[in-house]
Amino acid sequence: MGKFKNIVILTGAGISAESGLATFRAANGLWNNHKVEDVATIEAFQRNPAYVHEFYNDLKKEVLAAKPNAAHQAITRLQKEYPAEVSVITQNVDLLHEKAGNQNVYHIHGQINQAVCLNCGQILETSGDVDTETVCPHCGIGGMMKPNIVFFGENLLYMDKVDELLRRCDLFLSVGTSGVVFPAAAFVQTAKYYGAATYEFNLEATSNNFYFDQHIMGPAGTTLPAFVDEMIKDIKNAD
Ligand code: OAD
Repeated sequence: MGKFKNIVILTGAGISAESGLATFRAANGLWNNHKVEDVATIEAFQRNPAYVHEFYNDLKKEVLAAKPNAAHQAITRLQKEYPAEVSVITQNVDLLHEKAGNQNVYHIHGQINQAVCLNCGQILETSGDVDTETVCPHCGIGGMMKPNIVFFGENLLYMDKVDELLRRCDLFLSVGTSGVVFPAAAFVQTAKYYGAATYEFNLEATSNNFYFDQHIMGPAGTTLPAFVDEMIKDIKNAD
């Protein structure tokens, strides 16, 4: 499998599916049961902030109770046992990467345990509810907190760092994402353009599978640990 020095792992909702969290676009997925225009756009938040807060407060309870699975743990193993810089760019707002002990995790779509104050821009970390009355602990203004979730129509977080990581990675793994939400869906193109080997881990073929060198089909909780085992074995054999 070769020796890699800079590995980027892009993750989506599929990596958390085996932890019991719903993906977005599956039958019975989050976007099947809710309208994106009601809960995940900046216009929806301006129109009805109470409803949007309620949606994310409910989701938060479920998400914070979830436990990482073998796929998240495989990333920790790769980071500990493979001599490369391994970064995780996640579209997930859950904290399962951190709970599994993953390092260098970039939440480009935000985090469910955070709210951002639209008055002062500071972040409030909380596992509790946030609503239209919540007072910002930094500036003391009430009613200006927004879930720190990147809504459609907003800029992604950490994009300068992401760009740098994609340009210098030599191995790009995409795990459990449908590849329909941009710009994350195009990260594989950037990585490939700059010379990375590209692998996709998914239950099924995705719409942007053209850019991947290899597709590894199956549940990430099985396929990713097996892949990491092979990588670590290769490195040991090469020593
Ligand atoms: P999707 O729901 O669009 O896609 C999940 C993908 O995971 C699908 O391609 C599934 O086939 C795959 N999958 C499901 N279970 C799997 C398993 N056990 N192992 C491997 N693959 C599995 O979710 P995302 O691609 O993450 O944005 O969606 C991207 C963004 O769309 C989300 O971050 C969210 C949403 O709008 C925000 O909320 C800001």
